Amino acid sequence: MSSHDILYTDPLQAAHLAAREIAQRTGVENHDIALVMGSGWVEAVDALGMPRYECNAQDITGFLPPSVEGHSGKIRSYEIHDDGKIIRALVFLGRTHLYEGKGIEPVVHSVRTAVKAGCKIVILTNACGGINKSYAVGQPVIIRDHISLTATSPLIGAHFVDLTDLYSKRIREIVKGADSTLEEGVYVHWRGPTYETPAEILMMRTIGADLVGMSTVPEAIAAHALGAEVLGISLVTNAAAGVTGEKLNHEEVIAAGKAAAARMGALLKGVIPKLL
Ligand code: HPA
Repeated sequence: MSSHDILYTDPLQAAHLAAREIAQRTGVENHDIALVMGSGWVEAVDALGMPRYECNAQDITGFLPPSVEGHSGKIRSYEIHDDGKIIRALVFLGRTHLYEGKGIEPVVHSVRTAVKAGCKIVILTNACGGINKSYAVGQPVIIRDHISLTATSPLIGAHFVDLTDLYSKRIREIVKGADSTLEEGVYVHWRGPTYETPAEILMMRTIGADLVGMSTVPEAIAAHALGAEVLGISLVTNAAAGVTGEKLNHEEVIAAGKAAAARMGALLKGVIPKLL
């Protein structure tokens, strides 16, 4: 059986095997916190210093090669020192998206692997379109809640997980305490790969959404279902379709991410020690 077959036949076992491989390669039996760096966030991770270990994700059981520019497909292990405390962070540079058509299992494999590797907290970052007209391009927004418009869940069977506190209130309060300018918003998961139509954005605003993107929600659910606490942070890389009348493109998403990388990195570095 190939490393990809097991991802589909027994995804939790695939995550367990991947976590064992990461422990062996890094020499770190248990990581504390995981970060998934989405489009435009990859450079923010430079703020964490030099990684202690890096490999191509596809060398680990169940991870697929990257297919999107701005998603580099690496796994790194960091040691963050703060006030005598050592925090071991497992960082995934890039992710697999639903729109790649490989099914839901590869989309949530990173976070399942992270939880099996010991992570009690999962930080999910993404690039998104701003539906809320008060948001500026380059603004980070904490995800308070989500609306799933993909009709897809990473969970199978009679697994009735409560999502009331999916985006941990405890963590959100700590992050807002670290940067009081941060706002919170409701994120819509859109399958993509097309961006939304202006009419779809109007619908999303009407049902209470502030942000729209093509990731994060399945990972948040999968991590929470395995008992991890979740923080989601979106970077508004463009006004959503129809808000300004401008056309959307992936290059502007990456460029907005690059422009905000230093601020996002400082935010993550400052906040991580406060969470554990
Ligand atoms: N829509 C969906 N996904 C996105 C967007 C958007 O406007 N910007 C970045 N990711």
